[in-house]
Amino acid sequence: LLLAGMLLSACGKKDEAPAAAAPASAPAVAAASAPPAPPPPKVLTVGTDAAYAPFESQNEKGEIVGFDIEVVGAIAKKAGFEVKFVNTPWEGIFNTLGQGDRDLLVSAITINDERKQTMDFSDPYFNAQQLIAVKENSKVAKFADLKKLKVGVQTGTTGDEAVTKLLGKTSTAIKRFESTPLALKELEAGGVDAVVADNGVVINYVTNNAGSKFKAVADPAAFAAEQYGIAVKKGNAELLGQINKGLADIRADGTYDQIYTKYFGAPPAAAAAAS
Ligand code: ARG
Repeated sequence: LLLAGMLLSACGKKDEAPAAAAPASAPAVAAASAPPAPPPPKVLTVGTDAAYAPFESQNEKGEIVGFDIEVVGAIAKKAGFEVKFVNTPWEGIFNTLGQGDRDLLVSAITINDERKQTMDFSDPYFNAQQLIAVKENSKVAKFADLKKLKVGVQTGTTGDEAVTKLLGKTSTAIKRFESTPLALKELEAGGVDAVVADNGVVINYVTNNAGSKFKAVADPAAFAAEQYGIAVKKGNAELLGQINKGLADIRADGTYDQIYTKYFGAPPAAAAAAS
């Protein structure tokens, strides 16, 4: 009761100035009603291709979960906006920003110059590199060994780009899939000899699908270092600033490391954290 009284008197004081300026009939109504509710937080629509565990995937309940999801969730909390994740196919995902269908994208998206021409990226939030998935008994030991083999990739990814460079634009040995899990299924079925995709995803798959009898082959010298960024529509400096600030905040207060450790077993190496 005391608190309510204090609140009321606080409101009364606050209302004094506007009430005085308002028409004579207004003050009674204004005094009786509750103070205006703050505007509801803005709900931003986040596009993600949720077939890329552990970064984004759908659980048994159909909820979109993963490292990226938690990072963006934590950033949103700091920045004071709400987010709604929408499963969005990788092919065409970048167009959804320009069309205004999505406000931001988080999808293990590697920042590169080509993409920077059509969208803006946050500061990097994750370091990655391509990794080769093959059957356990494969003789593949380095990227160049894929030259005479059939290779599966997810269309339009940096893995696709690397393999296209190695095998040539017109190569019929490259099998492109709309998702990385589909490419890995084809590896299991024997339709391709290898799959090239982001290290985190390949390691996750090899670890969680022991029955597939895959192994991961690293060739750090053959693949460029990659960094993931959160994408916004080109020119949306306001949202980008909020995201970068939120990202810096969750790095500073340990939230980022907590999420990282949850998904990767240990906090990021010092070099990764600094980038
Ligand atoms: N990092 C790679 C790229 O940017 C692959 C990302 C694929 N992400 C996904 N959610 N399917 O091309």
